[in-house]
Amino acid sequence: MANRTRHFLTLLDLSADELKHVIEQAIARKKALKQGEIFEPFKNKVLGMVFEKSSTRTRVSFEAGMTQLGGSAIFLSSRDTQLGRGEPVEDSARVLSRMVDIVMIRTFAHNIVERFAQYSSVPVINALTDDFHPCQLLADIQTYVEHRGSPAGKVVTWIGDGNNMCQSYINAARLCDFELRIACPEGYAPNPELVKLNADRVQVLSDPKQAVKNADWVVTDVWASMGQEQEQKQREKQFGGFQVNHELMSEANKDALFMHCLPAHRGEEVSAELIEDEQISVVWDEAENRLHAQKALMVFLHEQSR
Ligand code: CP
Ligand code: NVA
Repeated sequence: MANRTRHFLTLLDLSADELKHVIEQAIARKKALKQGEIFEPFKNKVLGMVFEKSSTRTRVSFEAGMTQLGGSAIFLSSRDTQLGRGEPVEDSARVLSRMVDIVMIRTFAHNIVERFAQYSSVPVINALTDDFHPCQLLADIQTYVEHRGSPAGKVVTWIGDGNNMCQSYINAARLCDFELRIACPEGYAPNPELVKLNADRVQVLSDPKQAVKNADWVVTDVWASMGQEQEQKQREKQFGGFQVNHELMSEANKDALFMHCLPAHRGEEVSAELIEDEQISVVWDEAENRLHAQKALMVFLHEQSR
């Protein structure tokens, strides 16, 4: 029996070595899957998937992944569960974790996943909160490793909003030992405490050109995240000049890669030409790797919590 249940609420719930292990497993199992190998350690296991925000990639990758691992998944929308009618998170956690083997949650405030995990007897995975999106980082790191090898010592540039993805890149910089330069308009910087904690490798700038100089890996995301739809117009004005396009990428290293967690808004944070340029943009591999990385994560958390 394990003495504790392992959760994945931020990337920092894994050590650097554990993260490396999960990424290696994701890459190896992806290859094996493509060669037709069946790997079903989760026979009779069930994943509960709680969604309080929309999703395409996250829902499909977790659901397909669980099926491939021999288990099954239940989609729980806040629109038709008691959680959406005000049943306390702590009660929902105790009930669901008596019935399923892993829980995945996509929600608003980060403390919802923390409270849920505190009361859950099975692993809880953060599938996006207002503050962090660590599952996406697993896929992004896997994608970088597959295309270019280890990210250690590389220069990564984040352009745009200091949002949940940006903050997850700050944690990734620490765990993967890369330099992170963030360029955002005034008023849209990531959490200053998180930046301060990682000041040895994270820099916040205001000029995208300066930030992208000699970068190996360039990333952006939408200007208005889920829950900020009413700020869209205002943000479009303030983020002018923060589009990642071929001109900006020409400042980066020659073999620099472009990533975006998707969905993308062409003509806003990224140009249509750049996202479609498969010499630079690896967004489709990145999206596919959600499947492989999360399968490896679920197997790891489950093994560790046994
Ligand atoms: N990147 C990502 O999490 O996509 P979805 O919102 O479609 O799940
Ligand atoms: N920052 C975006 C990511 C979507 C996957 C959002 O929170 O809406």
